[in-house]
Amino acid sequence: ASTISPAKKLQCDDSDVWYELADIDWDSLGFALMPTDYMYVMKCTRGETFSKGELQRFGNIELSPSAGILNYGQGLFEGLKVYCKQDGSILLFRPEENALRMRMGAEQMCMPSPTVEQFVDAVPPPGKGSLYIRPLHMESGAVLGVAPSPEYTFLIYVSPVGNYFKEGIAPIHLMIDTEVHRAFRCGTGGVKTIGNYALVLKAQTAAKAKGYTDVLYLDCFHKKYLEQVSSCNVFVVKGNVISTPAIKGTILAGITRKSIIDVARSQGFQVEERLVAVDELLDADEVFCTGTAVVISPVGSITYHGERISYRNSGIGVVSQQRYSALTRLQMGLTEDKMDWLV
Ligand code: COI
Repeated sequence: ASTISPAKKLQCDDSDVWYELADIDWDSLGFALMPTDYMYVMKCTRGETFSKGELQRFGNIELSPSAGILNYGQGLFEGLKVYCKQDGSILLFRPEENALRMRMGAEQMCMPSPTVEQFVDAVPPPGKGSLYIRPLHMESGAVLGVAPSPEYTFLIYVSPVGNYFKEGIAPIHLMIDTEVHRAFRCGTGGVKTIGNYALVLKAQTAAKAKGYTDVLYLDCFHKKYLEQVSSCNVFVVKGNVISTPAIKGTILAGITRKSIIDVARSQGFQVEERLVAVDELLDADEVFCTGTAVVISPVGSITYHGERISYRNSGIGVVSQQRYSALTRLQMGLTEDKMDWLV
């Protein structure tokens, strides 16, 4: 990624594989865009299918002021991470799952979409470290009335990233906003569409101004069941039971969420996907959040109606720590990939 700063050579472990790397201070990376040299772009017109994409220099893209994405918000995105193994090999975690989720989202948003193979093949190889991959899919053609656009663009850019929350693996502090709901039944809350993220910004900004890390949303009908945090899913631990809100169209079907469930079950935990009432936060042992960007974030406190419920103030809970290690060791190729999830 020579856009960032002069390249230097790096040898992974004691193999004789050498990489040209940008001179990045990997330890101080946050979750912000650090532009890299190229992006992958693929277009298709309405009624056609995506065929061949190309690498272009990373840069601004030109859109008509009447592009569907700008006017009607028909857009989807994904997020994947790439890890560099000690031997220098590059590992992607379950990219087909992201491709499938984008296809399901595209169906709901009335857009054509790339095939799973096109999606996975379009992922460019990285140099080193934790590289975040952002596939973006949008209506780029001009429209005026509310109608599907005549043109669609699928593009992928990448950025080296560090922790999503500034707390890193230290506990985060959430507040429940009883006035704002992220999604409603039969809407698009379960789709990774751009609008779901636009609508949490105001609540999230207000929470941050009060010193919280982020917002935990409740369902909009009963106003008492947990849904998700702005950019991640939530899990509640009580003894050997790990509970998480069931996927019913209002929360995002996170790939990290699904992976945590499968791995925890295989390791003897009872995992329940169901309605999780806000009251259950009161006697939970631990709460943690999951997401591709977030990975696993332990929750230190949740404030509800001004009352603060605290969990292990001074650190990360045992189950959260175990889940974090199990997942990241697998993603980095340090444990056997029994599920065949690595590419
Ligand atoms: C991800 O976890 O990859 C996401 O898409 C969340 C994003 C809002 C940073």
